[in-house]
Amino acid sequence: MTTSRAQEPAWSDVPGAELGAVDITSKEFTADPFGFWARLRSDAPVQSVRWTRGSTAWVVTRYPDVEAVLRDPRLRKDPRNALTPRQLATGLRFPRVLAPLERGLLSLDAPDHDRLRRLVSQAFTPRRIEQMREQAEQITDSLLDTATRRGSMDLIEDFAVPLPLIVIARIIGVPEKDVSRFRRWTQALFGLADRPARNIPSVQLFLRYLRRLIAARSRDARDDLTSAMVAARDSGDRLTDDEILSMLVLLLTAGHETTVNLIGVGTLALLEHPAQADLLRSGHDDPGLVKTAVEELLRFTSPAETATERWPDRDLEIAGTTVPQGARVLAVLASANHDPAVFADPDRLDLTRTPNPHLAFGKGAHYCLGAPLARLEAQVAIPALLRRAPQLRRLDPTAPVAWRGTAIVRGLETLPVLL
Ligand code: HEM
Repeated sequence: MTTSRAQEPAWSDVPGAELGAVDITSKEFTADPFGFWARLRSDAPVQSVRWTRGSTAWVVTRYPDVEAVLRDPRLRKDPRNALTPRQLATGLRFPRVLAPLERGLLSLDAPDHDRLRRLVSQAFTPRRIEQMREQAEQITDSLLDTATRRGSMDLIEDFAVPLPLIVIARIIGVPEKDVSRFRRWTQALFGLADRPARNIPSVQLFLRYLRRLIAARSRDARDDLTSAMVAARDSGDRLTDDEILSMLVLLLTAGHETTVNLIGVGTLALLEHPAQADLLRSGHDDPGLVKTAVEELLRFTSPAETATERWPDRDLEIAGTTVPQGARVLAVLASANHDPAVFADPDRLDLTRTPNPHLAFGKGAHYCLGAPLARLEAQVAIPALLRRAPQLRRLDPTAPVAWRGTAIVRGLETLPVLL
């Protein structure tokens, strides 16, 4: 797997009793989690591990169990539908100022979830998204023009971040001049669970900005998604201002943090598999190859390492293990995507792999709304990068790869490259 198996601890030697002490949110773990997931798949397919702020999470690692967890309505997204009153009273809570964020798609169950999802899904159909291809190509070209003039870039900050951020900002209606602030704000949101005190002020600025955007579109509608949601609110679709706010936050966050990692870690994987990179470079204009290549990079890198948390609304048996009501359950997408029971030779990168039933975008009611957009961006960005940088390589191939220590998404701080 990418990022050298040599660094991997010998997970097969770790006594079973110690598996629960592993911190799956640390940078060291993020550098190469695949050996650990393989060990769990074979010996402990439903296992409790360390999670943020001294809490624990049950991780589910085999493909069929991951799929079943994602589809099981007894595993709730809204903790209020699952936790006991005592658990709710003593659990880790976000501060009150952030309460509006509790109305996001990923924190709701049916029927509220389905009502809200219907309202935005029109904007993300494959047909609507295909219309953005030309814009994605123009943004990609202009970023690569700047980079090739300089001869080097940080692949993350100078390429993988701006492309999805500019695209989602345009869909929502955020003026381009404001886009640079959003990276800091969405990172603060991801850091909330780990370091609330440090990140709350940035998240508050983020919310204030978006409230102003909603107010501006309420006065003066434009051709953007915020205006469409404001119109739905005013036509009696039972959409509240907090729901619009939550939706914007989710789209801006989910809309780029994960795609950044697909482009970033996907490129790293190609640099580590030069024959596969050459294959895609020479076939950059073959739509069939570009498509299977992006699906394989989704599978191989799994930018969302786990799905977001779910909560059983009763004591629930998952693959023979009883998980208590109200416990945090994480479906490990990266593990399902490397399960040898489903994928032949799963740790091999094969850009022509078909079929490729990966779970990188999840499954069931919460299946990624932005999947068509993420696919389009990667299908445009990665082949263009390879074509325009025939000698693409890491600036310092001996330097350790700079992984981020984050829960849920798996990505890089930086990736300096020479073009
Ligand atoms: C490579 C890029 C992406 C990956 C790997 C990814 C992955 C995922 C996954 C795994 C889920 C389900 C989480 C769960 O069930 O707990 C999800 C949900 C979601 N994603 Fe993505 N995503 C990506 C890009 C995007 C983009 C570009 C957007 C928006 C423009 C987006 C918007 C959403 C939304 C709104 C949901 C919640 C859907 C719901 O709850 O009904 N994602 N994504």
